[in-house]
Amino acid sequence: MPELRELIRRKRHGGALDAAELRWLVDEAVAGRVPDYQLAAWLMACCFTHLNATETLALTAAFVGSGEQLVWNNVTRPLVDKHSTGGVGDKVSLALAPWLAAAGLALPKMSGRGLGHTGGTLDKLAAIPGFRTDLDQPAMQRLLDSVGCCIAAQSPTLVPADKLFYALRDATETVDELGLIVASIMSKKLACGAQHIVLDVKCGSGAFFPNPPAAQAFAAMAARIGREAGRNVACVIAPMEQPLGRAVGNALEVQEAAGLLSGGQDSPELRAACLELGVAALELVHGATADHGTLLLDLLESGAAWESFQRWVAAQGGDWAAFEHGAASAAAHYRQVTVTATSAGRLERLDALTVGLLACDLGAGRRNKEDVIDPWVGVECLAKVGDSVEPGQELARLTVMPQEPRTDEQLAAAYLAAAGFAV
Ligand code: URA
Repeated sequence: MPELRELIRRKRHGGALDAAELRWLVDEAVAGRVPDYQLAAWLMACCFTHLNATETLALTAAFVGSGEQLVWNNVTRPLVDKHSTGGVGDKVSLALAPWLAAAGLALPKMSGRGLGHTGGTLDKLAAIPGFRTDLDQPAMQRLLDSVGCCIAAQSPTLVPADKLFYALRDATETVDELGLIVASIMSKKLACGAQHIVLDVKCGSGAFFPNPPAAQAFAAMAARIGREAGRNVACVIAPMEQPLGRAVGNALEVQEAAGLLSGGQDSPELRAACLELGVAALELVHGATADHGTLLLDLLESGAAWESFQRWVAAQGGDWAAFEHGAASAAAHYRQVTVTATSAGRLERLDALTVGLLACDLGAGRRNKEDVIDPWVGVECLAKVGDSVEPGQELARLTVMPQEPRTDEQLAAAYLAAAGFAV
């Protein structure tokens, strides 16, 4: 059995741990036999001297082995998992999962709750009254058979090591080491059992990866780990300098995704993001054998993607009529703050992080794990980067709680702090 202090010392001096040592460290930690201070010291050493590719692969395997692994024996459709590294206004999964289900794929997706300026898919879905995400594997399997997609809460039995390591990383500022990030994300994808994995790697001010080199390094390492585990992986690197689409806030984002699929209100940026990832998924499964983009657009225009969305929401217990009623009631009873342009110009910048933090402060997200979310509050960005605006034109609409203490002027100023104009 290795000596824990020797593993910490070796990492601190830039040495590498072998697969057996990493497996031992992970197993001991999950068994509660590694004190937090020693694990934290090892994590900090990883941040200073980094994990090499072999260590990252071995750590990912040790993470996967720390818990249950899903096997989908009876699903006839090709299984695809889609994961986003997180961004502001990123509601792609809400539209893409049922859309790809309509295209004949099966998407068993596990998601988390949001913390900080990026929203979590589970929080968005919680805006739909009755929508259940506490699904076990048989329930997920039934949804894949009947609808073709499901979005469930991350099961505590899958990769318990990640939960433990992540909590310590979060508390010790050791999150952003590439090898630790790849092991954390890819272990959960591998344990989920899909043969095909599409990674949406967001890059920019509102994202986990601040610049293209960081996003590319993650994508390359994640794809390699996936391939070595026998999976097909595609990575799409997407900018996140401004929020994705119009809405930032849980119910507002559900409305935007539904508006795209129903044809009620187009969202060109969301449509483009879904198409890029959707084509990547279909190419992974079928190869570049057909014009997958045209197929996806046909499913949108025929209403098949919208029907799939409605079937999916109902199958997970969601009451769409109650959601629409709640949205109308919130529009009437919550304060609406309009942000207008004071002069003519072109919007050059709309900082995703600033908008994400504003939405979070309005109650759409959590600064701390215990914070309670209000599903109806949020921000609608009506002008996007590149748009020309006239004096008095609406730039944004904020939906805020009736008891929000800030004045309209203060809230508008908080939004305008995200914006930069060129005359
Ligand atoms: N998301 C994860 O699940 N893990 C990380 O380490 C970073 C982002």
